[in-house]
Amino acid sequence: MNFKQLVAKSIHQTINTKYSEDDLYNVLEIPKHTSFGDVAFPCFILSKTLKQPPQKIAEELASSLKSQYFQEVKAVGPYVNLFLNKEYFSCEIVKTVVELKQNYGSLKIGNGENITIDLSSPNIARRFSMGHLRSAVIGNSIANIVEKCGYKPVKINHLGDWGTQFGKLIVAYKKWGDRQKVEAEPIKELLKLYVKFHEEAEKQKELEDEARAYFKKLEDGDEESLALWKWFREESLKEFQLIYDLLNITFDSFNGEAFFNDKMEEVVELLANKQLLIEDNGAQVVRLDEEEMPPCLIRKSDGATLYATRDLSAAIYRKRTYNFSKSIYVVGNEQSLHFKQLIAVLKKLEFDFADDMIHVPFGLILKDGKKMSTRKGRVVLLEEVLREAITMANQNIQDKNPLLQNKEEIANQVGVGAVIFHDLKNERMNNFEFSLEEMLKFEGETGPYVQYTFARACSILKKANYVEVNQNLTLNDDLSWEIVKQLNDFPFIIEKAYHRLEPSVIAKYVIDLAQSFNKYYGSVKILHEDTEKQSRLALVQAVKIVLHEGLRLLGISAPEEM
Ligand code: ARG
Repeated sequence: MNFKQLVAKSIHQTINTKYSEDDLYNVLEIPKHTSFGDVAFPCFILSKTLKQPPQKIAEELASSLKSQYFQEVKAVGPYVNLFLNKEYFSCEIVKTVVELKQNYGSLKIGNGENITIDLSSPNIARRFSMGHLRSAVIGNSIANIVEKCGYKPVKINHLGDWGTQFGKLIVAYKKWGDRQKVEAEPIKELLKLYVKFHEEAEKQKELEDEARAYFKKLEDGDEESLALWKWFREESLKEFQLIYDLLNITFDSFNGEAFFNDKMEEVVELLANKQLLIEDNGAQVVRLDEEEMPPCLIRKSDGATLYATRDLSAAIYRKRTYNFSKSIYVVGNEQSLHFKQLIAVLKKLEFDFADDMIHVPFGLILKDGKKMSTRKGRVVLLEEVLREAITMANQNIQDKNPLLQNKEEIANQVGVGAVIFHDLKNERMNNFEFSLEEMLKFEGETGPYVQYTFARACSILKKANYVEVNQNLTLNDDLSWEIVKQLNDFPFIIEKAYHRLEPSVIAKYVIDLAQSFNKYYGSVKILHEDTEKQSRLALVQAVKIVLHEGLRLLGISAPEEM
């Protein structure tokens, strides 16, 4: 229900004006204070045409605006303040939520078309970094949001499983590696080798050349190199999978960079045919002078392809395979230029779908004000963060609710929920400092707080043996009205989150709803035996449904008890 639309319509029907309903709609305000009503109409806009002062118009309008929808219409200075009919709308809205259940808020913006979402996409043989966590968590939530809006999300983990770093790794492994050690702790060992390579390469420049040569061998299908690469990849994936399992995130495809090794010829040829490939110091590039960007590197002087070449190939492949209506890349802001170049090159190739590609950037998680870097070893291990969060959640349960069943499962949901929510409550472009303490907070504006509120709603309903009955509801107090208005906002919140591709919109919303509900719970005797009890329970049921759905959209589970 769009209250502003309803008010605009009523005003439009009441007065004689050249302005359209939309014009009126656009000037309507939602007052900050409820004492000024639910919607306010500033009358200045009508003053000129009606040749009257706005105060006068407000007075007249207030006395003539009558409808079952309004409880009260007041003129205050040049404003008309409208108070909606609480009882009527509460009944309508709560009943709608309870009836539609998890489908409440679903939109038909998409028509079942595919949206591909590139998310997480970590690099093989390296630690899964906080950046890959952000991408996974933000991307997963965006996938849920677009699905809620009527699209079909296709989640693609574009693994960084190709590139010169594998040349480096092979060189390092052959020089200093130990098979048994790698088998015991693959990523840790491989990371050590990677760090050592960079330390040594600072002293011995020729190591870089050796690495390049090995990567070239890999691209050409050299058996020994391929076998090592495959082994690194499998071992790494096993470790990543542990994290995805913890996060409860699944993918539709793991086609990473290596998948495109034998598919890049096509795009290179297309570029050549269009005379877009230019020699530059032996390398081949696409110049982007008109776009005011540095050239996009397609092939190095030794013939090796690059990250961008693989992404070009992948973009075309995705269009062909999924016929996406949008192709979203959830990748850190530091790769902004890369995606701009990618889109620019595809436009030069006259691929119309380039206009449907969207880079969704996000900020950094800093450590002591600096970017966390795998190469320098300044990296916080995600798995440890998640495990720590789960341990703390477990501790909390032991203290507060030792008799709870499925303690372990719930501790998992709460610990992981805390980490995910901590990430998603920030607007995605914001940088934030890594703080384990902050991540593991369970009170205040946190995931566990929302989960706890959901569990509280569940327990009230259980205590009351609530069953849905189709009857008119009689809610008309201010506290429930605040909740009802928030419930009514949910579809608009989803739409906003979708348009901005911004999960934090939903995270903030569930916090607000949880807070209003807890306020209600603190001052109203919900279970008191009177004629309104069924109405209050229906409200609790509606809150339960929307909190659950809000958390689900964020990728967070909602245990019924905790
Ligand atoms: N593997 C890359 C990295 O960790 C991210 C890949 C993002 N996706 C893409 N299609 N380029 O930096």
